[in-house]
Amino acid sequence: MYKFPEGFLWGTSTSGPQSEGIEAGDGKGMSNWDYWFSIAPEKFHNQVGPDRTSTFYHNYKEDIELLEQTGHTTFRPSIQWSRLIPEGVGEVNPKAVEFYRDVFKRINAKGIKLMVNLYHFDIPYALQAKGGWENKETAYAFRDYAEKCFELFGDLVDTWFTFNEPIVPVEAGYLADFHYPAKVDLKAAVQVAYHTQLASSLAVEACHRLNPEHRISVILNLTPAYPRSDHPEDIKAARIAELFQAKSFLDPSVKGYYPEELIDILKAHDLIPAHTEEELAIIRENTVDFLGVNYYQPLRVQAPTKTTEQPMNLDFYFEHYVMPGRKINPHRGWEIYETGVYDIAMMIKQDYDNIDWILTENGMGVEGEEKFKVDGAIQDDYRIEFIQDHLKELHRAIEDGANCHGYMLWTFIDCWSWLNAYKNRYGLVELDLESQKRTIKKSGHWFKELSQNNGF
Ligand code: BG6
Repeated sequence: MYKFPEGFLWGTSTSGPQSEGIEAGDGKGMSNWDYWFSIAPEKFHNQVGPDRTSTFYHNYKEDIELLEQTGHTTFRPSIQWSRLIPEGVGEVNPKAVEFYRDVFKRINAKGIKLMVNLYHFDIPYALQAKGGWENKETAYAFRDYAEKCFELFGDLVDTWFTFNEPIVPVEAGYLADFHYPAKVDLKAAVQVAYHTQLASSLAVEACHRLNPEHRISVILNLTPAYPRSDHPEDIKAARIAELFQAKSFLDPSVKGYYPEELIDILKAHDLIPAHTEEELAIIRENTVDFLGVNYYQPLRVQAPTKTTEQPMNLDFYFEHYVMPGRKINPHRGWEIYETGVYDIAMMIKQDYDNIDWILTENGMGVEGEEKFKVDGAIQDDYRIEFIQDHLKELHRAIEDGANCHGYMLWTFIDCWSWLNAYKNRYGLVELDLESQKRTIKKSGHWFKELSQNNGF
């Protein structure tokens, strides 16, 4: 039996843009995703856009009942900035306030520990049109939005996250074409990352100032970088990959400063972002209270094979390496490597003062409809096995001193997932997109037992 510490939290994470639906009539403003879908629907899997979700905006009462039926003791939704403040700054949408307040009240009434995230890849389009995260003003607009959330919902929510996986919009939007504005510009990417960190630190400051007893953090995808071999060039590449992809947000968020090694690399190629000493002081003085960690797959790295004078992209520093014979989720194409959870835990213990943390996302996406059903319920034993295998490693880490207080699966109900739309389904609950019918999968019933037994 793998028993977890008393009070260990069991739940799922989701996000506003992936579950609520657009419902423009109720005053929601346009987000970067709504805009992108309107100009380039062909980029989205089967041309399914952010208007086709599980419509949590209407179905939240039923969904909150389902949280209980699947044994949730914690839940992490996100507020959509473009729903609350349609233009990004200025007027607050009263219908959004009413909606989120009712959602949070009902979740609290079930005794489910609510943790609310403020940003899950979604920016109001009005701000994107003014340069988005390339523009420093966005960081201050985010601070004001965060402050509004603390004021409006602070009596119902005491645990917050500033950003989910802030490195993802940086890479996907400024080094690849998975997020709008789909540029490839390394200098802009570094500036965007810096402004995002500044915004996160400003929100931490506002949270502590308004409600000193509230806790706030950031959610980072801390994928370990494993070198292909013990050749010094592979080891160096893995080290640099880790600096860019994990430590660029981890160190300023937890320690208050950027790693010297990263600064040296950026300096060498004239990539240091525009900044001021006052901003660095804001980052230094406003570190997080705990950590949210997402883990899906490891990052395997080899030394770069192309040589150019100047870095145009991160492949100047490192390349991805596909491990032969790896265990893989054939649907999503992602390697399954449970030991990654243990390695993350030990890294946090050794290098980050064993700060307490929660595994805020981990999950198995299955391409297309999951078809094998018994008595109407999808028999997703593979998902149960996936969760168990990761929990075994988490359990081992906790026995070895890791300070982890909860496990959140991605996700509750099958959800819309950006360009991938419904390509991969992750839920404990099946969604029939046409009828909007929800059916608990075998994993959802199992998850309830897991939570009730505090282990398996
Ligand atoms: C996570 C994101 O990293 O990956 C989620 O936080 C996303 O928003 C999830 O849905 C799964 O991604 P995909 O592309 O497999 O659907």
